[in-house]
Amino acid sequence: MLIMAVRRWTAVVGDTEMTRQVVARIKIILLLVALAPATAQKPAQQPAKVSPSNPQLVSAEIERRVDALLARMTLQEKLGQLVQYNADGAPSATVTTGQQHNLAANPEVGYRIDAMQLAANGEMGSMLNVSPARIHAYQQAAVDKSRLHIPLLFGADVIHGYRTVYPIPLALAASFDPDLTSSLARMAAEEASSAGIRWFYSPMVDISRDARWGRSVEGAGEDAFLGAAMARAYVRGYQNDRLSQPDSVAATIKHFAAYGATEAGREYNTTDMSTSRLFQDYLPPYQSGVDAGAASVMSAFNALNGVPSTANPYLLDTILRKQWGFDGVVVSDYTAIMELINHGIALDAATATEKAINAGVDVDMMSHFYDTQLPALIRSGRVPMAEVDEAVRRVLRLKFALGLFDHPYPAQPEVSAVTPERRALALRAAEESIVLLQNKLVSNTPLLPLKPGTKIALIGPLADNAREMVGSSSGVHRDSEVVTVRAALEARAGGPILYAQGTQILSNSDDGFAAAEQIARESDVIVLALGESAAMSGEAGSRAELDLPGNQLELLKRIAAVGKPVVLLVFSGRPLVLTSAAQNAQAILEVWFPGIESGDAIVHLLYGEESPSGKLPMSFPESIGQEPLYYNQFPTGRPANSADLNEPPGPDSRFISRYIDAPNAALFPFGFGLSYTTFSYSAVAVSLPSVPLRAERPGAASLVTATATVTNTGTRTATEVVQCYVRNRGASLEQPVRSLQGFERVTLAPGESKQVSFTLGFNELSFFDNTGKKVIEPTQYTVWIGGDSLASNAAEFSIER
Ligand code: BGC
Repeated sequence: MLIMAVRRWTAVVGDTEMTRQVVARIKIILLLVALAPATAQKPAQQPAKVSPSNPQLVSAEIERRVDALLARMTLQEKLGQLVQYNADGAPSATVTTGQQHNLAANPEVGYRIDAMQLAANGEMGSMLNVSPARIHAYQQAAVDKSRLHIPLLFGADVIHGYRTVYPIPLALAASFDPDLTSSLARMAAEEASSAGIRWFYSPMVDISRDARWGRSVEGAGEDAFLGAAMARAYVRGYQNDRLSQPDSVAATIKHFAAYGATEAGREYNTTDMSTSRLFQDYLPPYQSGVDAGAASVMSAFNALNGVPSTANPYLLDTILRKQWGFDGVVVSDYTAIMELINHGIALDAATATEKAINAGVDVDMMSHFYDTQLPALIRSGRVPMAEVDEAVRRVLRLKFALGLFDHPYPAQPEVSAVTPERRALALRAAEESIVLLQNKLVSNTPLLPLKPGTKIALIGPLADNAREMVGSSSGVHRDSEVVTVRAALEARAGGPILYAQGTQILSNSDDGFAAAEQIARESDVIVLALGESAAMSGEAGSRAELDLPGNQLELLKRIAAVGKPVVLLVFSGRPLVLTSAAQNAQAILEVWFPGIESGDAIVHLLYGEESPSGKLPMSFPESIGQEPLYYNQFPTGRPANSADLNEPPGPDSRFISRYIDAPNAALFPFGFGLSYTTFSYSAVAVSLPSVPLRAERPGAASLVTATATVTNTGTRTATEVVQCYVRNRGASLEQPVRSLQGFERVTLAPGESKQVSFTLGFNELSFFDNTGKKVIEPTQYTVWIGGDSLASNAAEFSIER
């Protein structure tokens, strides 16, 4: 309680010297109380610490066991805990191919290790992405053969399910449903832990405002508020409140920090931004994951303001450890320590190692540097032994907290099949995450949902493609477990349907067009399944064009010319430019990569058994030149106001912030998504027209409440994501034109209404200044409540001195 109060107070008055001293003293007292038995012998050395981000990692019992173990470890065994290898020890191609200076920088490292031998010697603490079939053998080597019997910790990239693969994270963000996300994360943890995996390199919470960046697929999109909610949800699901339960998995918040701000959307590229922007738009999801108790954080590949994250003490120590109180393990990204040489901030392996460990990286993933370089660095005093000990402690604490010393092997037999209950959860997730982008009238009624008995022609390279429709990083699922769109439509029809592939995902050949046109002519409605392959997004999946790949748009145009209504299903791991596609299809469903239940979910929506409720977590551009594109942009001195930006600029509309050949607005904006019903919103009311700014006000959970009534004005029961946006004018720094500060999923029967209120407190109304301090100033606020980021019903209030 006391620490919470101090934290709030710090947030209010800022990180002044006086605050730091008070906080430090209180923390020392609390820590001494918490660790009373363990610290009895050495009270004087106890360092000041902020309250632990996850108290399970620092219990007195764990501390005693860590102390005892550490006292018995040799240097080699200690360094072993800090290195992580995959089964063959081979680092990525980027390091081995044509990078001779790396070889020279680290000549003592062959590019292979014998992981089994290291496990048996107690010289390796953790492993990544080991096949489930081999996990047991490695663990046995570590537990039975190594001198101190320290178990290995197995980590893996479980991104959207292990056996039961559910929609990609960007799609889940479209559900605006953190509770559902937690349940899915729980399911993934139950499945993977049964194979011995107790550490996920997930969630990726990097904010991504540039659709060219392929890793947009792994995150929650462009908004910090939504991103923070999703980060908490994953951590809750993976860790399940108790790390020690055998089916809990340690979460990793990655990639710290601002990896998604990569310039030009090009993978691994540099980032550069103001402190205010970093704290306001990029850090909140990481912090939210840490506050939720995430047991680990991964340092990112990219440089931020010139300093690679993996050697960045400001990020890893000042912010993560000192300001946020993070007590878990920092693991580097894959070969990221070695890559410090490529970044040009280290001339040799020793310096790269020194910079990484001194900055706060505990575990070296695949660089082969900590084990080879640290002995000499410690001998020469360049790296203090105490620092190494502290990193080892963190790794051991995590292993104790996970209960690995007591139960190194899974408690359950490996989950090796998809159960009906798990399938049902994956189905619900797919249904909730699909976004209806367009639904034009055909014969005076919206094309979707389709009427029973409609004769469908199913066309496209993704219609029956089990491999691609689950997306990248798709666990250990089997393709045979995936229900494709074709399989689901045939199951429903009780026999074959009209189907043609039309073209490949990436092809210039129109050989398949004629057969596709033929079945289109025989149908009432064409369902066209187009989009990206799984590998076109994900790591190293940056694209410079965001069109439908290959000749898919050509296929769409040819099919549309047949004259039958077209429902376009877009499979993608990111926003695409759908401007031409939207002119050639009457209805568009953005289905993302929906996972093993792709087909059933899509068919339920096509026929209206479910009404779409997904909302876009990233803006869909009208033109690629608009990227990076995000709704919560900053105002300019030359706003476009009501100029018609679809027209080339005339004399009155040239010298404003605009393009001369494209509008400023997204084709489909953040928060947008249609339904099979319609919703109306009442005027917005605020609880107070003005709020006094008093010293004790900031930090308050509730300063103003904004309320509106939403009504289902259509004929079907459906779910709406009610969204609350805020703008702050008159502050010392310019603030975004609006930013999301609340959302709620509301299910309403036809004619039903619900009053929805959003509580706006210090967190929602404050902003970060350029020292990283959260402040609230006497300013004017506008609050909107509606169904997307263009919501127009608003109310005003002010904060006054
Ligand atoms: C990715 C990480 C991933 C790691 C281990 C890296 O290339 O950036 O997100 O966790 O590999 O597979």
